[in-house]
This record gives sequence, C-alpha cells and structure tokens, in this order.
Amino acid sequence: MNYEKYMNICIQLAKNGEGKVSPNPLVGCVVLDKDGNQISTGYHAKYGENHAERDALLKLKNGEEKDGTLIVNLEPCSHHGKTPPCVDLIIERGIKKVVIGMRDVNPIVNGVQKLKNAGIEVIEGVLEDKCKELNEIFIKNMTQNKPFVAIKTATTLDGKIATSTGSSKWITSSEAREEVKNIRNRYDAIMTTSSTILADNPSMIHNKKIILDRCLKTDLESKIYKQGEIYLFNQTIDMFEGGINFIKTPSKENKLDLNFVLKRTNELGIKSILIEAGGHLNGEALKYADKIYHFIAPKITGDNSSLSCFDYRKISEISESSEYTIDSVEIFEPDILLTYYPNR
Ligand SMILES: NC(=O)c1ccc[n+]([C@@H]2O[C@H](COP(=O)([O-])OP(=O)(O)OC[C@H]3O[C@@H](n4cnc5c(N)ncnc54)[C@H](OP(=O)(O)O)[C@@H]3O)[C@@H](O)[C@H]2O)c1
Repeated sequence: MNYEKYMNICIQLAKNGEGKVSPNPLVGCVVLDKDGNQISTGYHAKYGENHAERDALLKLKNGEEKDGTLIVNLEPCSHHGKTPPCVDLIIERGIKKVVIGMRDVNPIVNGVQKLKNAGIEVIEGVLEDKCKELNEIFIKNMTQNKPFVAIKTATTLDGKIATSTGSSKWITSSEAREEVKNIRNRYDAIMTTSSTILADNPSMIHNKKIILDRCLKTDLESKIYKQGEIYLFNQTIDMFEGGINFIKTPSKENKLDLNFVLKRTNELGIKSILIEAGGHLNGEALKYADKIYHFIAPKITGDNSSLSCFDYRKISEISESSEYTIDSVEIFEPDILLTYYPNR
C-alpha cells in the first residue's frame, strides 16, 4: 500500500488549519475501508475544535471504517484536552491499522502504545521529515518553550532592500507580495520596527503585531496601528491604552533586548513570529531565527550605499559568515522565493 500518497493528502488537509489552530499542531487525516478505498478525510480546523481523526471518523455513520486504516501526520492523542482522546475513538470504531507520520513531541501523548495495547497495527515514520517540517512551529514550542521565529525579506539580486534614500516600493512583483500574505497567515504575529514604519507606513494586516519602537517615535495614527492587536515594545512605558499594549523593555546598546521581547511574547501566548523589517533588525534577529523566507527580484541596484537585508556586524574573513541550508526555491514570476534554515 502506498501510504505516502495518503500522507501527502493528510499534510494538505492539515494546512487548512494554518493560522487557526495555534498553539496546537496542524493535523490532517484520511480513513480507508478494509479494501483500501478512501472513505473519509478530516482536519483540525481551529483551536478547541475536533482533532483531525475525530473529524474524519465522526463523518462515518455506518461502520464502514471497521477493520480499516487510519492515516494521520501526527501520533493520535491519548489524553483529555479540550476534546476527548482520539485513540479511544479509533479503538471504539474498530480501526485495524494506524499509519502515522511522526510521534507527538508533547510528552503527555502516548497514543502509539495505547493503540498497540488495543491490538492495532501501527506503522510509523511515513514522510516523517515532511511531517516534521509541517509542524516545525509546534515542535519548537513544545521542545524549547520558545516562539518560532521566521524572517521575511525581499531583495534585489545584490541583496538590497531599499536605496539609500529609503525607496523600496516595490522590489518584488504583486505575485510575490500575494505569497507574503499566505506566509503571514502561518504565524501568530508579525514583528516590525519604528524605522520601517517611518520609512514605509505599511498596513501589514494581521491579528497580532509586535512593534519595536524604543523611544516611541512612531505616530500612533500610522496605518499599522489601525488594525489588529498591538504589542508596542519600548523602553519607557508599561500600560494598556487606546487599544495598544505598551510593554516596557530593557535596552542594550540602544537596542531593545530581543531576549526579553521573545520571552514576553511567549508569555503572551504568541508562539510564532514573522519578522518583516529592515536589515538592522533582520541582522540582529538572525541568531534567534529558525527560518528565512527570502524573495529575490531580478533587479540590481549596483549601489553599495543601498540598504542590505542583513546589516549588523563587521567581519574580515568569509569563513566567519553564518551558514544556511536552502530548503526550497519557488518561482513567483519574475521573482524567486528561497526558503532556508540556519545550520546550527
Ligand atoms: N524589502 C524588504 O523586505 C523590507 C522590509 C521592511 C523594511 N524595508 C526597508 O528597510 C528600511 C529600514 O531598515 P533599517 O535597517 O534602517 O531598519 P529596521 O531594521 O527595520 O529597524 C531598525 C530599528 O529597529 C529598532 N530596534 C529596536 N530594537 C532593536 C534590536 N534589538 N535590533 C535592531 N533594531 C532594533 C531601532 O529603532 P528604535 O531605536 O527606534 O527602537 C532600530 O533603529 C526602510 O527603508 C524600509 O523601506 C524593506
């Protein structure tokens, strides 16, 4: 049986929950009858709602899943959370075989053992790497109790994000900018800075926005403040006023302490952050970054005084450069999107 085909369907189904299930994982599920025919699918659509396995099984009313196979990208849960344990329903419905992509990193989940104890065959590790990438945010949150940090940047071929006068609209195509909206949707919050707000007055539509503005220089009438929950990290005030959470933050060398910012955002329940800023914050944030989305437009400024996408240090040897592994290259005509991870 080609379980990879069904695991790919699970991964696609799981993505329907992007932006809605945090802090839960993304999960999709396929059910086959005893003859291997696909009879149901499900996914975890929203935090607090049914898990994927429950969603798929509850659509079946006539027992056609008896002796069938259930395929799911993450080990089914065995504990009572917002919903009852999925393994109990799988056992109750007479499923004979369960195929999973990866074990749950949540230590309280022990679904595989419970299924095996009930005499159900369990096949593990189908498209495991792909399943882990799908839930990279959940894995980081669970294993490190820290938010997942991604950086998005859009540059010319010579790595520039704006000219020296601050002109940056638009480096990339409308197709690439549409993709940015899809990327934003995967993250609990976006983060930007006073400099970027002052230069571009962006709207950055999102549910939650983190703004780094040490001396509170941005105009609260700027477009970014018009929508979403705002967390304004600054060095002076701690209060909630006019719909804005002002968060007093320590500074180091005239920069807000990013360790503090990330710790506070985690405490506020923000489990993943997409940074959309200029080269200074992008550079300073590199040591915290788990992933980088780098759009490149086929343009060259040819001007070394244009602003670079990562600009935070001086090095003398090329061997001192930080190293990354490119995960994918996608085309958004005429631009490309490189997605890469730090080699740590
Ligand atoms: N092409 C793109 O993808 C893209 C995206 C965004 C922006 N841009 C362009 O980028 C330009 C701005 O870039 P930039 O490099 O000057 O600014 P930036 O990286 O957006 O922001 C730097 C500012 O952030 C604040 N900040 C607070 N804590 C920080 C920390 N720990 N590390 C770094 N910064 C911290 C500081 O201002 P305070 O002292 O006021 O807090 C600092 O001056 C604009 O021209 C904009 O158009 C391009």
